[in-house]
Amino acid sequence: MNDLVIRPLVDATEARFCAAFMAASDPWLTLGLNVETIFRGLTNPAREVHVAELKHQRVVGALVLHLDGLLNGYIQTIAVHPEAQGHGIGTRLMHFAEERSLRHSPNVFLCVSSFNRRAQTFYERLGYQRVGELPDYVVQGHTEILMRKTWGPLRGFVPEK
Ligand SMILES: CC(C)(COP(=O)(O)OP(=O)(O)OC[C@H]1O[C@@H](n2cnc3c(N)ncnc32)[C@H](O)[C@@H]1OP(=O)(O)O)[C@@H](O)C(=O)NCCC(=O)NCCS
Repeated sequence: MNDLVIRPLVDATEARFCAAFMAASDPWLTLGLNVETIFRGLTNPAREVHVAELKHQRVVGALVLHLDGLLNGYIQTIAVHPEAQGHGIGTRLMHFAEERSLRHSPNVFLCVSSFNRRAQTFYERLGYQRVGELPDYVVQGHTEILMRKTWGPLRGFVPEK
């Protein structure tokens, strides 16, 4: 994966491409999130949005960060194109997200759906722990599991200038 670059999303075409592959797969399908809803999330100016690109080829992943919300350092969305999954791209995006988040906060939070077992294992392997549950949060019958990876308490943390 030496030829992978992570850079800001540049335009609506890239956002549409990512929204299309996300809307056609889980967890978005089961959560009932369509292309338009996902597209709005990817183009929200209040979020930091990055894509993973195989150099000079194509976009293969997307990452949406919410760095100044209530849960400071929140990974709102991470997605790797179905054809590119399982090759380390998601891990690279997670490390990138942690680096960005740690400029603001000693915690990184994310939510994962109760039915998304593979993603839960993926996050646990990266050091994330379950800290809460939000039953029926997005859709009836499924829980969103809140996970956190921490580098220490808020007190004593010095954000980067
Ligand atoms: C979860 C995800 C971001 C991981 O990215 P990735 O590039 O596939 O992951 P990596 O290659 O770095 O690591 C591999 C691990 O990711 C997880 N993984 C692989 N494919 C996955 C899939 N389709 N869905 C969920 N997790 C998956 C597994 O834990 C895998 O380990 P394993 O091969 O030993 O089972 C990516 O698979 C994905 O976009 N999945 C679908 C969308 C999703 O679940 N997003 C997270 C929402 S909270």
